[in-house]
Parts: sequence; C-alpha cells; structure tokens
Amino acid sequence: MEKLYDAGKARAIGVSNFSSKKLGDLLAVAPVPPAVVQVECHPGWQQTKLHNFCQSTGVHVTAYSPLGSPGTSWMNGNVLKEPVIISIAEKLGKTPAEVALRWNIQMGHSVLPKSTNEERIKQTLDVYDCSIPDDFLAKFSEIKQARLLKGNFIVNPQSVYKTHEELWDGEL
Ligand code: A2P
Repeated sequence: MEKLYDAGKARAIGVSNFSSKKLGDLLAVAPVPPAVVQVECHPGWQQTKLHNFCQSTGVHVTAYSPLGSPGTSWMNGNVLKEPVIISIAEKLGKTPAEVALRWNIQMGHSVLPKSTNEERIKQTLDVYDCSIPDDFLAKFSEIKQARLLKGNFIVNPQSVYKTHEELWDGEL
C-alpha cells in the first residue's frame, strides 16, 4: 500500500480491526501513517480507548456495524433495543437507529450502515437534521459494553492469535 501511495495510486491508507496497541505499533514504524481505522463501533461497543487514541494521533475512526448489525446470526446485537437508546429516541422523536448513528457522528466518526430497505436507507440519510444534546450524550456511558464481533474464526491454537485477549490486545 505504501508503494501504491508513493506512486500516487492510493490517496490514503486505511486499516481495519486494529486495537489501540496494534495501531500504535503501526504508527511507530509506518512511513505513511494510516488515515483511517475501520472497526466495529456502536453505542454497545463504543471503542473508548481506540477513540481517545485516534483523537490524539489524528487517525479517523469509521464505524462498521453502527447499528449493531441487528438480525445477523454472527453479531447477535441488541443495540437498537437498549433502553437508554430507546428512551433518548422517544424524547427526541427519532428512531433508535437514528440515535445510534447520530451518536457515532457526534463522536466524530463516520458510519457505514447497511440496509436493503428503501425507507430505512432514507431514514439513515436523515440523521443530519437533529443533534443529541450533551445531557443525553452523557447517558451513553451507562450502556453495557460488549464487542459483538469476537473474531472466533481467527482465534485457534494454529493461528497467530491463540486467544481473544491476544487478538484484541485486551480490548474486549
Ligand atoms: P434491513 O436491510 O432489513 O434494513 P449494520 O449496518 O449495523 O451492520 O446493520 C445492518 C442491519 O440493520 C440490516 O439487517 C438492516 O436490515 C438493519 N437496519 C438498517 N437500517 C435500519 C434502521 N433504520 N432501523 C432498523 N434496522 C435497520
């Protein structure tokens, strides 16, 4: 990627699923620092440590599964049913999905929500017409945190990562 960047064929380099430690290790040696890190990020897995690290190093965070991937068997998320989110959504006259997306945007992250439904895609585009006030934003710290994508497919005795602890460097 650095060769492509140097040749003007890539405008930036991004990485995905990096912990704060792995990103720090990369920043320490990379001639071309990554511009962006794409990770699971939603109100139920807020990536606080990585967020703070990226704020101090200037790496942009982009969130995959920003709705907690409801309905998927591999994520099993219940983010949109989280009482704090439902309560804020009711108070703002928004849907839980809009509140979840808006939270990420107000954290300075970009979001990559997916939908196959026209109405929901339109709803997703509507997140710029409202803002979560600071007192409601503070409530997000009450949400129980759990990484939904554990990475079971990569953790095994033959893998570079023998435990989830190693894979995520303790950010679990
Ligand atoms: P659907 O395609 O039927 O809209 P994520 O982006 O976090 O991976 O989540 C994708 C899942 O969230 C899809 O299953 C999608 O289902 C559902 N989804 C997308 N937009 C919304 C929305 N506004 N409200 C509820 N569920 C949504």
